[in-house]
Amino acid sequence: MTRKKLSKLEHGLSGTIHIPGDKSISHRAIMFGALAKGKTSVTGFLPGEDCLNTISCFRQLGVDIVQNGTQVEINGLGIEHLQEPKEVLDVGNSGTTIRLLSGILAGLGFYSCIQGDASIAKRPMKRIVDPLRLMGANIDGRQGGMYTPLTVRGQNLHGIQYELPVASAQVKSAILLAGLLADGTTTVIEPERTRDHTERMLHAFGVSINRSGNNVSIEGKQHLTATSIEVPGDISSAAFFLVAGAIVPQSQITLHHVGINPTRTGIIDVLLNMGATLTTLNQNEEAMEPYADIQVKASSLHGVEIGGEIIPRLIDEIPIIALAATQAEGTTVIKDAAELKVKETNRIDIVAQELSKMGAHIETTEDGMIIHGNTKLKGAIVNSHGDHRIGMMLAIASTIAEGETILENSEAIDVSYPGFFGSLSELAGH
Ligand code: S3P
Repeated sequence: MTRKKLSKLEHGLSGTIHIPGDKSISHRAIMFGALAKGKTSVTGFLPGEDCLNTISCFRQLGVDIVQNGTQVEINGLGIEHLQEPKEVLDVGNSGTTIRLLSGILAGLGFYSCIQGDASIAKRPMKRIVDPLRLMGANIDGRQGGMYTPLTVRGQNLHGIQYELPVASAQVKSAILLAGLLADGTTTVIEPERTRDHTERMLHAFGVSINRSGNNVSIEGKQHLTATSIEVPGDISSAAFFLVAGAIVPQSQITLHHVGINPTRTGIIDVLLNMGATLTTLNQNEEAMEPYADIQVKASSLHGVEIGGEIIPRLIDEIPIIALAATQAEGTTVIKDAAELKVKETNRIDIVAQELSKMGAHIETTEDGMIIHGNTKLKGAIVNSHGDHRIGMMLAIASTIAEGETILENSEAIDVSYPGFFGSLSELAGH
């Protein structure tokens, strides 16, 4: 366990930083490149632990992948050339890897077993197992398919029409990828729009995929053609510095080349609603994934209500939004976010527990939390609980907390933002 000593900043954050590549897009670039025929080049790849685990799983399936920092070359031979792995596929901490990979493996002609770390072992897998079984998949796991390890004996699948019981891009993507290998048409109906990176990137690989309202359909037996993928900075990583820039007095920072896919920009909407001085510059809307530079200044924030359709657009940002809310005048209510309980940790309980140690006033509810601002935070011994986003949120909290903070299990941050403390030091002028 790594214990990181952190302290309050003497002055504001300033300067420009590059945000590392988007995690969701990086995973998909590796997976789809591995399914395609030909050489796929990826730039801006996120070399965080989660995405490196995706690379190692696909190498075990016989795909030639050369990774050098943020550059990756995948020499794909086509879906039909993936091979039965000799060992258990280990996804580490990555929910995206296990769920999307299961969708792919369900339709291939071999046996495989997938597992991950202690956090993955507690996360619900029935949400993918149920629809994949409806497509004819032979997939199982502990407690009737509820939990890992998962075993898959790939076979012929058939298309289904499936209404998602929860708004989840991972479940949608697992079904669409199985649909790609299946006979007939597969349609997924979303209760709310979730991130659409799978749809955009499959299209870039030459696959025809159609959206009509909240329905997404794919025809089976299509082939992917290799392409070049440019991964923008991850708005979910940028979020920590967007909030830091707003709550650390006298800050003014610019985050360069951040993805602004509208299915991900809930954090920008919320910060603007809270009164943050935030501007997007140099927008490029033409790219497969739109991006921009984002500038933010220290701001007086006020509480807001967050719920409904915006939740999937900011689900990963709720821990850092909760920190922003502790510094806002009035009360912030977050609701319709029960999904937080099944992320890398139970993020409702852990956010409240850890920020309370620093003096925050947070009530937990069944589907969110109620945060009473504006509180002066104080240094404390806090713990990431192995959750990268909790770790980063607590590190940002330490920059405004009186006295010293010890962050236990700080190594979890490497899952999505290996250079996080370097970025923080750069902006703090150290
Ligand atoms: C992701 C989807 C979201 C998100 C996760 C990444 C993806 O999960 O929380 O960090 O890459 O599709 P759910 O689909 O479970 O909501």
